[in-house]
Amino acid sequence: MDKLTTLTAIATDLTAVLSAEDRYQRLLDALRIAIPYDAAALLRVEGEALVPLAANGLTPDAMGRKYLLKHHPRFDIICGSSEPVSFSRENTLPDPFDGMLIADKNALKRIHACLGCPLSIGGKLVGILVADAIDPNAFNKLPKKYVMAIGAMAGAQMQTADLLEALEKKAEHQGRLASDLMQDIHLQRGREIIGRSMVIKQLRREIELVAKSDFTILIYGETGVGKELVARSIYRQSRRSSKPLLYLNCASLPDSLAESELFGHVKGAFTGAVSDRTGKFELSDGGTLFLDEIGELSLEIQAKILRVIQEGEVQRVGSE
Ligand SMILES: Nc1ncnc2c1ncn2[C@@H]1O[C@H](COP(=O)(O)OP(=O)(O)OP(=O)(O)O)[C@@H](O)[C@H]1O
Ligand SMILES: [Mg+2]
Repeated sequence: MDKLTTLTAIATDLTAVLSAEDRYQRLLDALRIAIPYDAAALLRVEGEALVPLAANGLTPDAMGRKYLLKHHPRFDIICGSSEPVSFSRENTLPDPFDGMLIADKNALKRIHACLGCPLSIGGKLVGILVADAIDPNAFNKLPKKYVMAIGAMAGAQMQTADLLEALEKKAEHQGRLASDLMQDIHLQRGREIIGRSMVIKQLRREIELVAKSDFTILIYGETGVGKELVARSIYRQSRRSSKPLLYLNCASLPDSLAESELFGHVKGAFTGAVSDRTGKFELSDGGTLFLDEIGELSLEIQAKILRVIQEGEVQRVGSE
């Protein structure tokens, strides 16, 4: 029953979002239920050496070390094996954790139980799992197949941790890239409004006032008077300036596409709608949406935009 509990705990953790450190620690904790060890460690292969990822029952200095295979024949044997290795009582090879067992510093010098399992992913050795017990008979009743199953799952845990780490790194990189790009755009487009006339001063005050609010702003005026400049200035001074500003030039948008572009659509809403699509309103949620040349849209669509603004709710085309 304990054996099953351990397997279930490890299997459940496989898909959990955990830090690598927690993941490995939980693996060793679960292992203790089925395998009565005094010390256990999970190590990763790095070239000709093993580096500890987690340990239980060992002094802290066990973690900081790098274990060269040529200096640690027991580890070398485990790495060279295709199945779990249980070191016999007669085995006189030194235990790599000698002197580091918390329960009894000198226990590993004497006869003790020592078990090692190579961990492979897709046929490639990625690490080992080792356990030591002061009682020389502690691991006697462990079926080899069971240890192999544990080993397979420990290897899978390592793979999950590596995948998550790679994804996190990538996401962080993309996030930084995006925020850098945004700053760049700010700089490029961040031209100040020039002018000292009363009208311009008044305009600046109004921009400052509305920028602090969550209101929807309509900017109108003749061509070339600086409407876009005002729109970007409002955005820069708003509390949403750290979130993206999405720009959509409505003049370049044929009526047939406008609705789907603005509000998105669900799969099958019309011919050609082969998958769900997020509209600009939804994409800019929490940020700012700049609809340039909105007057070029048909009155029907302008009315729909007004409704969305009023309700604060978007319905994708074909979702009713
Ligand atoms: N007060 C101002 N200070 C600095 N630059 C200005 C000012 N007013 C207009 N401009 C410049 O004039 C050009 C036109 O401005 P903008 O594109 O904002 O106008 P618009 O009102 O959006 O015009 P359109 O209706 O043709 O799109 C831009 O290069 C802008 O930087
Ligand atoms: Mg303009």
